[in-house]
Amino acid sequence: MFNFLKKLFTQKKIIKIITAIDDNNGIGINGDLLYKIPADMQHFVEKTGTDTVIMRSGTFESFGGKPLPRRQNIVISRRDDYDGNGAVVVKTLGEALIESTSKTVWIIGGAGLYVEALPICDEIEVTQIFGARSADTFFPEFKNDFELIKKSDKEFDDKNNVWFEFQTWKKK
Ligand SMILES: NC(=O)c1ccc[n+]([C@@H]2O[C@H](COP(=O)([O-])OP(=O)(O)OC[C@H]3O[C@@H](n4cnc5c(N)ncnc54)[C@H](OP(=O)(O)O)[C@@H]3O)[C@@H](O)[C@H]2O)c1
Repeated sequence: MFNFLKKLFTQKKIIKIITAIDDNNGIGINGDLLYKIPADMQHFVEKTGTDTVIMRSGTFESFGGKPLPRRQNIVISRRDDYDGNGAVVVKTLGEALIESTSKTVWIIGGAGLYVEALPICDEIEVTQIFGARSADTFFPEFKNDFELIKKSDKEFDDKNNVWFEFQTWKKK
């Protein structure tokens, strides 16, 4: 199925993942982010721009169950009656890609969707946070299949007391 999807969509669509991970690949705890770093939020807004964002329902609910402004939001839920509050609601990643309207689409979480999307993803935008907080949600291993092509200077976030940097990883 993924080969089919890859063939069908990668000719037309650029599929990117965006995530913020720490030293343990931790991405979340108790339905929330591990670190709320304003510069990372800004980076997310700038990178995703007005492109389509695709997420599963847990991630959608983690930022209040309302679509992110100025772009197409697609939420994947297996529930028949899921209320997307204006977001497009679909049942699978394949349907989400079919419904997506922008050339570049962003996979924004959570953990299971990252796993599902890695094989068809062209690039990953990683905010690497140099910390190790207790987490219950993790980004999958990806470094064997992707190469680091760009990274920013390290920045320090006073509020969280952590260093972080922005990295771009490309499929090998
Ligand atoms: N650091 C980051 O970059 C980042 C990014 C995103 C999220 N997060 C964090 O990650 C956490 C949320 O992610 P998550 O992994 O827990 O949840 P999630 O993957 O966003 O959502 C889980 C839900 O997706 C739905 N779903 C749809 N299709 C599914 C399928 N094929 N298999 C399984 N479930 C499917 C299920 O609910 P239904 O009943 O609706 O089907 C399931 O409960 C939060 O803590 C959030 O803050 C962090």
